[in-house]
Amino acid sequence: MIPESTIADIKNRLDIEEVVADFVSLKRKGQNLWACCPFHNEKTPSFSVSPAKGFYKCFGCGRGGDAIDFVMEIEKLNYLEALRYLAKKYGIEIKEEELSEGELRAQSERESLYIALNFAKDYFRQNLLTTAEGKNIGQSYFKEREVADEIADKFALGYAQDQWDGLLKAAQAAGHTVEILEKAGLVIPKDERHYDRFRGRVIFPIHNVSGRVVAFGARALKKDDKPKYINSPETPVYQKSQVLYGLYQAKQAIRQQENCYLVEGYTDVTRLHQIGIENVVASSGTSLTTGQVQLVGRFSKQLTVLYDGDVAGLQASLRGIDIILANGLDVKVVLFPEGHDPDSYARAVGANEFKVFLTDNARDFIHFRLDLVKEQVGKDPLKKAAAIKDVVASIAQIPDHVKRLVYVKEASEILEMEERVLVGEMNKVLLKARQTPPAASEVPPLPATVAPAEEEITGTFDINNLIAFQERESIRLLLQYGFDKLAEGKPLYEFLFHELDDVVFTNPVHAEILREYKTLLGSGKVADAQYFIDHGSPEVRKAVIDIVHTRHQISNNWLDKYKIAIPVESDSYRLQKVVYSNIMRLKQRVVRKLLADNLEKIKAAADTAEQAELQMVHRALKQAEKEIAAHLGNVILK
Ligand code: UTP
Ligand code: MN
Repeated sequence: MIPESTIADIKNRLDIEEVVADFVSLKRKGQNLWACCPFHNEKTPSFSVSPAKGFYKCFGCGRGGDAIDFVMEIEKLNYLEALRYLAKKYGIEIKEEELSEGELRAQSERESLYIALNFAKDYFRQNLLTTAEGKNIGQSYFKEREVADEIADKFALGYAQDQWDGLLKAAQAAGHTVEILEKAGLVIPKDERHYDRFRGRVIFPIHNVSGRVVAFGARALKKDDKPKYINSPETPVYQKSQVLYGLYQAKQAIRQQENCYLVEGYTDVTRLHQIGIENVVASSGTSLTTGQVQLVGRFSKQLTVLYDGDVAGLQASLRGIDIILANGLDVKVVLFPEGHDPDSYARAVGANEFKVFLTDNARDFIHFRLDLVKEQVGKDPLKKAAAIKDVVASIAQIPDHVKRLVYVKEASEILEMEERVLVGEMNKVLLKARQTPPAASEVPPLPATVAPAEEEITGTFDINNLIAFQERESIRLLLQYGFDKLAEGKPLYEFLFHELDDVVFTNPVHAEILREYKTLLGSGKVADAQYFIDHGSPEVRKAVIDIVHTRHQISNNWLDKYKIAIPVESDSYRLQKVVYSNIMRLKQRVVRKLLADNLEKIKAAADTAEQAELQMVHRALKQAEKEIAAHLGNVILK
């Protein structure tokens, strides 16, 4: 147990900014610090830390608390474990009274796994440094591969002796149970007995982002030993898709450099550190996952892929990079000379030349792809068409629509194709991605009312205006009712931000107001119409004045014609319905715009094949529209 006085020491010493910064990159805005939330997926920051108050709060997912809560939440620890974590971080010694057996058992399984894995790490390290076999075989191996002692130390590299139960015995002697050792992936059961998973190999411990050892990679010593690496299996504390090798050692540098290099292997990471490049992580030979990209994204929005495969595998690997784009990160690539990986190349040319090589050869991923396509011009036209589709599909992954359009423009220049054609192609991809209607599961339950049938909007109308109208309504609600409580006690702004997370405001002034609103919130100011009228840019002032006065100016005919909802807000339920239906209408209008655009394309389609494809898009959109209408129907006000 931890003495009360020590708990007080820890609480006095800790600084929420330092604690959170170990997991996300914080940017100061006003009095608060902001980041994309580490607890839910988002593209624009709504996670804020107030150093003055000692609290964190996410306006998107609603999570919040103090530094200890943060550690508990992100590391999935209980209260005492979080205190131990913080004590370790701040070098505060905990004089724990011996744990009784009962207390030991009560310790959570996760914590036991961490402790066992840490024991194994120390054991392998000691084996390397002190045993005869470790010195003769392990150390010789690292020496031959030119791994410096400091690097071996920094990454806690070790050696597993060639024994069946070396670790098992040592760990059991130290009080670890065989069940925990097995669960940690350290020993393997066979015929009622257990034996060590890693034997006669050099050891690369894998740390999670906060520096705990969660797994190991163990490399064979000889060329023909198969497999080359034996890795830990997945365990309760190790999900491969959520861990990147080297991130713990790299995160500080990634933040400072605002870039992260991505390599394949453990030895590439250690080599780059050795030549002074510390912002590097490894995917460990598998394709990247969204979880991993988001992990890097907490520290930097730029990722540079060091690709060491052969050209034949290039196209396939490039497609894997789309996941980085899709998560809103900028991507560069560097191709290595054939037969080299970053480790071997750095050894071959030395630190300086290697660094120059990286700067000279890092290319924006999309530009690089476009040049590849251009090379195919004049060769095989079919292949070229497929390649263009491929690049456009990549561009379509980028969530920021301005960036997308810039790339499309560049693509049209580089490929000497009409922008219109490329945009059309891209919209096809986007439409397919939008087949899934917005999630309603997270919306608090609303009382069902009988839904009036949604009439088809026919005739000519400007959907852009309708979208802008609904955006303005969102802003109006924010300005007038932002801090009013909805049915479940949450303020309106919280709900609105959460729902709008995947909606990009098309009107730049609206987008600006929304951004500014969030910033103000973070610094504890109340953002109401008056504030923007007093402090906003001329455009913002004008827009806000318009927004708060609009309701009396639009003719009722127009409102009726286009089914625009201007309900009367009063109690919290009503307000909640208003906000929700407003959001759904916004989404509905975006879909309808896509439908209208698509209809135009169907009319202009060159051949039946294209027409058929567009028809499919049409059907998908109709489906999305129907589902949105259904959601809307549930909340339409009487
Ligand atoms: P590589 O085969 O490129 O190995 O696999 P490497 O990292 O360059 O290792 P050295 O330089 O030959 O010692 C890249 C990564 O793929 C994973 C490992 O994470 C490795 O670092 N891998 C590879 C495995 O997990 N198992 C294997 O059998 C091979
Ligand atoms: Mn290698």
